[in-house]
Amino acid sequence: MNNNIQPIRGMKDLYAVDMDKYEFIISTARKISKKYCYSLIETPIVESTAVFHMAIGNETDVVSKEMYTFLDKGKESLTLRPEGTAGVMRAIASNHLMQSTSLPLKLMYYGPMFRYDRPQKGRYRQFHQIGFEYLGNKGAYTDAITISLAYEILVNIGLYNCTVFINSLGGLSSRQDYIKALVRFFSLYKEKLSPDSQIRLDKNPLRILDSKDLNDRELCKLAPKIQDYLNKEDRTYFNNVCNLLNKFGIRYEIDSNLVRGLDYYTHTTFEIKLSDGIYTDAIGGGGRYDNLLKLFGGPDISGIGFALGIERLMMLIDYKSNLESKIAVIPVSENEDNYSLDIFQNLLQYDFPTEFIWNATSLRKKIEIASKLNCKFLLIIGEDEVKTDQITVKQLTSNEDISIKQKKINRNQIINFLKTEII
Ligand code: HAM
Repeated sequence: MNNNIQPIRGMKDLYAVDMDKYEFIISTARKISKKYCYSLIETPIVESTAVFHMAIGNETDVVSKEMYTFLDKGKESLTLRPEGTAGVMRAIASNHLMQSTSLPLKLMYYGPMFRYDRPQKGRYRQFHQIGFEYLGNKGAYTDAITISLAYEILVNIGLYNCTVFINSLGGLSSRQDYIKALVRFFSLYKEKLSPDSQIRLDKNPLRILDSKDLNDRELCKLAPKIQDYLNKEDRTYFNNVCNLLNKFGIRYEIDSNLVRGLDYYTHTTFEIKLSDGIYTDAIGGGGRYDNLLKLFGGPDISGIGFALGIERLMMLIDYKSNLESKIAVIPVSENEDNYSLDIFQNLLQYDFPTEFIWNATSLRKKIEIASKLNCKFLLIIGEDEVKTDQITVKQLTSNEDISIKQKKINRNQIINFLKTEII
């Protein structure tokens, strides 16, 4: 038997401080999304493969190369979701959510996604997203407010230094004009394109712009830009979104190469990156989709949404866990166990992260345990403390130098003392 079984390549266990960060990110996003009147939705991790083929498009890298697709025991083709939007649209249509809910419908979700991509820093085969979808109210206000929701979440988890890269893919007629121009351009260089992009040229020319092939990338730099093909109406829409971002004080740059790797986008598309350029992959991305809900048999209603990559956020935030100020309640001997237990429960009532360390043979061992558990404050309760109702509080700073400060505090002052010390 192999007793060294590891997680699958590109997938990882999340625990300890990573899970604290995960929880912090989700709860912050949820708190903010409530102000913007989003409700939660959860859809299955596995969907019929057709859901993603229909929504994301067969020529995208996600569908053609990265999906975990398998036949179940009934020989039905199923896929582990590579993203959340398609499943949420399927769920809105399957459950007729548009009939029972008045518009706009605003949904937030979070959970694991799966893409068979090459694993590297911040890129996994199982990763987690928080996603938001806003159906109805198509227009510049909705787009800008959606982007500002993403920005507000990032600021609230401590990522103050972000830039939104924004583009427009226009409506159908602008996009058709643009695609004609792309075909004209890439046809001139057909033999220089990678084999994948030669196929894309016939089937879905826009997707050449996502190619990771280096030669293709060089050609893409010279290709026509969508911004030059937006008709008057689409240009005004896009300018209005940008003006609103100015009004909201959101840092943005127009990136006319930003077509995003999923077929469903129309009009506004955006990605968010750190401004300092140290980590250059997107921490979030999204855009408007005019036709997606209709594709699943829902009403003809446009939506906009985005998703943030939780692993990337976890890697970038400077997170101080409240567990860094853990408290240990330590009875010196069995005689003080009960008195100490009362204090332990009192601290829990006031939400202090607290360990009750009673199960060791000596005080020294108990202090060692507290130190290994990274407790910062030790409440030591011996015979004297019980008699005088005064508790000895030791403050630990590091393993080598464990008792920097020691004080006696009246039992009825202990909560106030800890509150001021910990803040
Ligand atoms: P996406 O740009 O494919 O959009 O993914 C959104 C975010 O998920 C990325 O910006 C990145 O932070 C994270 N992400 C993507 N792939 C990986 C990976 N392999 N490892 C770690 N993180 C990753 C979507 O998925 C759309 N559904 C967003 C959307 C919602 N558009 C409209 N509504």
